[in-house]
Amino acid sequence: MKHLRSVKDLKRWRLSVSDNIGFVPTMGALHDGHLSLIRKSKENNDKTVVSIFLNPTQFDNTSDLENYPASLEEDLEKLRSVDIEAVWAPKFEDLYPDNYRYSITEKDLSLKLCGEHRPGHFDGVLTVVMKLFNLVRPKRAYFGEKDYQQMLLIQKMNDAFFLDIEIIPCPIVRESSGLAMSSRNKRLSQKGQKQASHLYQVIKNAQNSAEANQKLKESGFNVEYIEEMDGRRLAAVELEGIRLIDNVSI
Ligand code: PAF
Repeated sequence: MKHLRSVKDLKRWRLSVSDNIGFVPTMGALHDGHLSLIRKSKENNDKTVVSIFLNPTQFDNTSDLENYPASLEEDLEKLRSVDIEAVWAPKFEDLYPDNYRYSITEKDLSLKLCGEHRPGHFDGVLTVVMKLFNLVRPKRAYFGEKDYQQMLLIQKMNDAFFLDIEIIPCPIVRESSGLAMSSRNKRLSQKGQKQASHLYQVIKNAQNSAEANQKLKESGFNVEYIEEMDGRRLAAVELEGIRLIDNVSI
């Protein structure tokens, strides 16, 4: 596995390969959800590249950014075990030579659901994904459906800017309790992790959003939103000061 550190490294490597590239962008703290995206990419592409970049421009809350689990050595170990072609972990200065003076803004869906509660979040996501796409130039890119709104916005950005990348949505990977895998779960206490699994049970089993909202409150969550869109029920809640999202098809 090649360990690429800078934009220059990535560009040099990219010029040397003409094969189909599968790309899995991440913010590190890798778990089985990420590994499932990587496995899918490996099945369908000649070479798979994973990026690890904790993107500060998508954090509307500095304490969320500061507490986001970072574990580069552990991540590299996991990536070695799945045997990918390259991992690329650039630095902020490298990826943002403009210091974020330029950004991508979507003006409709990005202001709803998570976007309503996290101002500027999706501008940061779309901007960094555009930068990563322009550099990696993948044939296919893999995104988990846990971040369903993010996946839709990236798909639509890909269409809007004629990027011609196949955006491959991948199903949510869950713990046996039903809790959707997320890097943020590591910050929950053991009790919190147990309690967090109610999120999935409630949004899956409730007759409607109002009932789910009521039940989530009774289970001790602060509910940020619970809404239905596109045949899915999506929710964001807070537990032990940690923001959790999930969604199910209805
Ligand atoms: O889903 C994530 O981990 C991030 O939002 C992404 C797509 C890697 C962009 O920073």
